[in-house]
Amino acid sequence: MKAQDEKIAVLTSYDASFTARIEQAGADVILVGDSLGGVIHGSVNTLSVTMEDMLYHMKHVASARQNTLLIGDLPYHSYQTSSTALENSKRLINAGADMVKLEGAGLGEGSISESIEHIIKNDIPVCGHLGLLPQSVEELGGYKVQGREQAAAEKMIADAKHLESIGVDMIVLECIPSELGKTISSSISIPTIGIGAGIDCDGQVLVLYDLLGITPGKHPKFVKNFLTATSSKQDKNLIVSAIKNFVDDVKQKKFPTDEYSY
Ligand code: KIV
Repeated sequence: MKAQDEKIAVLTSYDASFTARIEQAGADVILVGDSLGGVIHGSVNTLSVTMEDMLYHMKHVASARQNTLLIGDLPYHSYQTSSTALENSKRLINAGADMVKLEGAGLGEGSISESIEHIIKNDIPVCGHLGLLPQSVEELGGYKVQGREQAAAEKMIADAKHLESIGVDMIVLECIPSELGKTISSSISIPTIGIGAGIDCDGQVLVLYDLLGITPGKHPKFVKNFLTATSSKQDKNLIVSAIKNFVDDVKQKKFPTDEYSY
């Protein structure tokens, strides 16, 4: 799809019913994200999400998924060593995932990079995640735009190239300036999936509950409520049409506009 300049529409899902609707609306990829810590459990961050939580939701999403690529997040502290990373990746795959996602690209012995290589060597596809890393929110000092300074931007570009070089298949870019999203996307041949990373990423992902406007509290700038923004009285199923509108806007390169970018 990247080679053909066809944008990739990705949404999170945590249960069977929404998974069926997301497929009906034509999304390309479903992510069982550890964002479920916030939107399902009501936690302030994703740090409390466990492997058992991920497996529970993965199993239910996988039971409804027909054809769509399914990615599962490795939660906080589930990939600290190569062997735990592989073991937990296998558990997600056995529960129905096609690919696992983990945050960061650190180099060196005992690093994230080593864990990723070990997972890939064992034939499990990996999606990377750069920019704002929700599992490192405490070290980052909160949910802030990443990569604004030149050194941080250069490091992120190098990390993206490194992830590609070790065999990662796709990279989520979260909460970074649009210009950096564009540079990274054009510097690597694997697809980038943006969330608050501008219009030039190869695809876009939103947390389903944000798209539907049902996540309580303050939301980041990159969140667009597609339910109120686009539904009309003639729509028979507002949720499906909201998801369709998201997919159409991604495909037609209409989302995110500057209003939803940094
Ligand atoms: O956990 C999640 O849902 C994610 C997306 C926001 C990219 O990682």
